[in-house]
Amino acid sequence: VEIVILPTAAEVGRAAAAKIAHRIARHPETVLGLATGSSPLAIYAELAARREAGLDVGRVSGFALDEYVGLPTSHPQSYASVIRTTVTEPLGLDPARVHVPDGLADDIEAACAAYEAAIADAGGVDVQILGIGANGHIGFNEPTSSFQSRTRIKTLAPRTRQDNARFFDSLDEVPTHCVTQGLGTILEARELLLVAQGEAKADAVAAAVEGPFASVVPASVLQWHRSATVILDEAAASKLR
Ligand code: F6R
Repeated sequence: VEIVILPTAAEVGRAAAAKIAHRIARHPETVLGLATGSSPLAIYAELAARREAGLDVGRVSGFALDEYVGLPTSHPQSYASVIRTTVTEPLGLDPARVHVPDGLADDIEAACAAYEAAIADAGGVDVQILGIGANGHIGFNEPTSSFQSRTRIKTLAPRTRQDNARFFDSLDEVPTHCVTQGLGTILEARELLLVAQGEAKADAVAAAVEGPFASVVPASVLQWHRSATVILDEAAASKLR
């Protein structure tokens, strides 16, 4: 794992966006893996600025990592809404090329298989953007997720529901289940790019990149990938040896 430590959270977003923009400039049909949450927002804002400055994203496509089960897509906290308002619209991506797992399907298992097939049809993910949960999750692959897992329905860990309650009016409104790309799915991306900012992520980051390769720290799969980069601010890097 290549680790880059920068002084501020803003610089983390800029450095990650620069890497992605460079790839898009060389390969206009880049397939991005899209994380939601706070961590990648600066990346998306910077990519939007670069697009204003002339970066052509007309043929870029994207696959979100995860979605809540049971939230209507019109709910502002559904990841379908979040991806639309933070990625598709500001970057001016073609909505037909941006995909989010279906958390409302009657047959969730079939919808998960279709999502995997759509990723494969697009030629696989080129750059998977990742955040990390305070418990070491990536996507919604909570601790003890199988390293071979594929897109599937999962129960959200209590810690994750509490962490995400800030986006809802109350903890009760946070869905209990999600659909998430599996660790096996994520590992197939050609490049992994994880960003983390702030002290609250420091323990998870240290466990992921310096701890043992262990399913209790799902992000430790980065150690297994041939092209994984972790970009951190100083606070998120503060527990590294
Ligand atoms: C979201 C996702 C999660 C988040 C993680 C960190 O699509 O996959 O793994 O990346 O929970 O969330 P933030 O960035 O809000 O701290």
